[in-house]
Amino acid sequence: MRVVVTGAKGQLGHDLVPACRRLGEVVGLDLPEWDLTRPEGADRLAALRPDWVIHAAAATDVDRCEREPAWAMAINAEGTSRVAGVCRRTGAGLLYISTDYVFDGTRGTPYLEDDSPSARSAYGRSKLEGERFVQGTAPRWAIARSAWLYGTHGKNFVKTILHKARGGERLRVVDDQVGSPTYAADLAGALVRLLERRLTGVFHLTNSGACSWFEFTREILRQGGMAGVSLEPITSGQLNRPAPRPAYSVLANRAWQAAGESPLRFWTEALGDMLRSLEAAA
Ligand SMILES: NC(=O)c1ccc[n+]([C@@H]2O[C@H](COP(=O)([O-])OP(=O)(O)OC[C@H]3O[C@@H](n4cnc5c(N)ncnc54)[C@H](OP(=O)(O)O)[C@@H]3O)[C@@H](O)[C@H]2O)c1
Repeated sequence: MRVVVTGAKGQLGHDLVPACRRLGEVVGLDLPEWDLTRPEGADRLAALRPDWVIHAAAATDVDRCEREPAWAMAINAEGTSRVAGVCRRTGAGLLYISTDYVFDGTRGTPYLEDDSPSARSAYGRSKLEGERFVQGTAPRWAIARSAWLYGTHGKNFVKTILHKARGGERLRVVDDQVGSPTYAADLAGALVRLLERRLTGVFHLTNSGACSWFEFTREILRQGGMAGVSLEPITSGQLNRPAPRPAYSVLANRAWQAAGESPLRFWTEALGDMLRSLEAAA
């Protein structure tokens, strides 16, 4: 199988490209050499004649998306439409990486794959538009919604907390948003498994369990041997970020388990692995 991974240099892409080697040949595409908003980008993708495209490239700065919604739409919606158009022309399957932010987070119980999405932020709306293009255009498709991603590569919440804690900063973290932190390496493994089994449809894929950002921070500090660092819970209102975030965006991984797959491991265990990998790389 020939697999093309878009967003290959991103946090997920970094783990996904090597994980895909198990499937056969893999080609990674990303900025600056490959821009999915440009027609040449589509031509280059088509020329690779992929069997499957894993489309992980996206505008992921949620607050910038809120300030520049046209930018978010151009990349996450129209860009995805271009990728889906290539899949239609070439007959390739399309696995699109989506997000818990397609839900408004008001329900208070885990979201199922067939629950109606209703995004609150420009980022969530642009990713949801992307999902609709995938479903309406690609001949064979799967959508994997994940959440609260962190990995050993790139900027993410875990690394930011470690950096601030080591710098002696007093930490103030929101305690009124609940989700499932998900290790990029675990998600990459599950995505490869989806393709191996040629599974199609919508899948929620996150590590098991849930916590608030505050609880996540407390666990990062505990496992990082910095439990003594000053940490204060605050509300989203106090943080006052441009983009609204869902208050509760836990995703029930029901379709994955209905397909006979085991739940991804508990988030605290995955976090431990990530911290050990960071330490080993240092
Ligand atoms: N991060 C999360 O918490 C999270 C949660 C749920 C779902 N997701 C989804 O998971 C996927 C991977 O996320 P991630 O955390 O790995 O994001 P990431 O680190 O920001 O990676 C995305 C990659 O896409 C590239 N990209 C942006 N615009 C592009 C364009 N016009 N043409 C080609 N490439 C472009 C980025 O390049 P630059 O860095 O140069 O812009 C980056 O390398 C995304 O689809 C995201 O929506 C993320």
